[in-house]
Amino acid sequence: MRRMRRLRRPGIREMVAETRISVRDLIMPVFVDERIDQPVPISSMPGQMRQSLNSVAEEAGRIEDLGIPAVILFGIPSRKDDLGSGAYDHDGVIQKAVRRIKESTDLVVITDLCLCEYTSHGHCGVIRGQEIVNDETLPLLGRTAVSQAESGADIVAPSGMMDHMVRAIRSALDDNGYTDVAILSYAAKYASYFYGPFREAAESGFAFGDRRSYQMDPANANEALWEVQLDIEEGADMVMVKPALPYLDILRMVKERFSMPTAAYQVSGEYSMIMAAAERNWIDGDGVMLETLTSIKRAGADMIITYYAKDFAARFA
Ligand code: PBG
Repeated sequence: MRRMRRLRRPGIREMVAETRISVRDLIMPVFVDERIDQPVPISSMPGQMRQSLNSVAEEAGRIEDLGIPAVILFGIPSRKDDLGSGAYDHDGVIQKAVRRIKESTDLVVITDLCLCEYTSHGHCGVIRGQEIVNDETLPLLGRTAVSQAESGADIVAPSGMMDHMVRAIRSALDDNGYTDVAILSYAAKYASYFYGPFREAAESGFAFGDRRSYQMDPANANEALWEVQLDIEEGADMVMVKPALPYLDILRMVKERFSMPTAAYQVSGEYSMIMAAAERNWIDGDGVMLETLTSIKRAGADMIITYYAKDFAARFA
């Protein structure tokens, strides 16, 4: 007689676990703020800090010591303009941060590649009137990719959801000799309310409108498969689904359909929601962290970008 509970006994339960989270699966996001001298807490994301250019190498060292293989960097520049020129400035905040991290660690450095933190209007592309103009944005993304690669980035991660961004970036990298720099495309990125806390963390809120003309409608799944397919055709080496938990169905479809290295981004709102409820003792924060990471991996993620990377590594690795 089959009894499913036999294998749920202590010890045996762990032996038959189909999914295990390892610190090697995780990627830690790091915010680097050009305007500060020492780390500053991010109020919308309890436990998270913005690093300064002086502190970022040390922080990277701690991340490396915890066994986390990679970081993804977001920059907050001291000046913003209409064309987001801080994104492709040789001495921009990200370029400096990458050089410092690469000098002192062996971490894999991924750079978020978008204009929104660098534009005065906060949108991910060049604007004309109220419109975000796709094709005029592409050369700027190409320049940003080259500049990030020149600083030592191993992987660039375009997150702006402009059509043909991956092709423009691949061509720019190849034309400049950076054929080995990989592209992790935020291929299926939804227009999500879960990005709220990040926009405070990275000061990338927008001056008008919203991001719905370029980010995906949460109602759509087939469209995600098209986005991913097009990005692969354009040269993406790895693809991402973002956010993670509300889109596990998409993650599973993408992994099954394309068999590509697939990342999931457990975004700021997913993190802060858990932290806020845990602070009130409404849920067990560590338990929910482990459960969500396990669910994301079970659904098909090979890599998880998560603000919990350090906490997980410190407490469970
Ligand atoms: C920039 C970008 C965003 C996030 C990652 N890259 C914000 C956005 O698209 O509005 C969100 C990450 C998070 O919420 O943790 N395009």
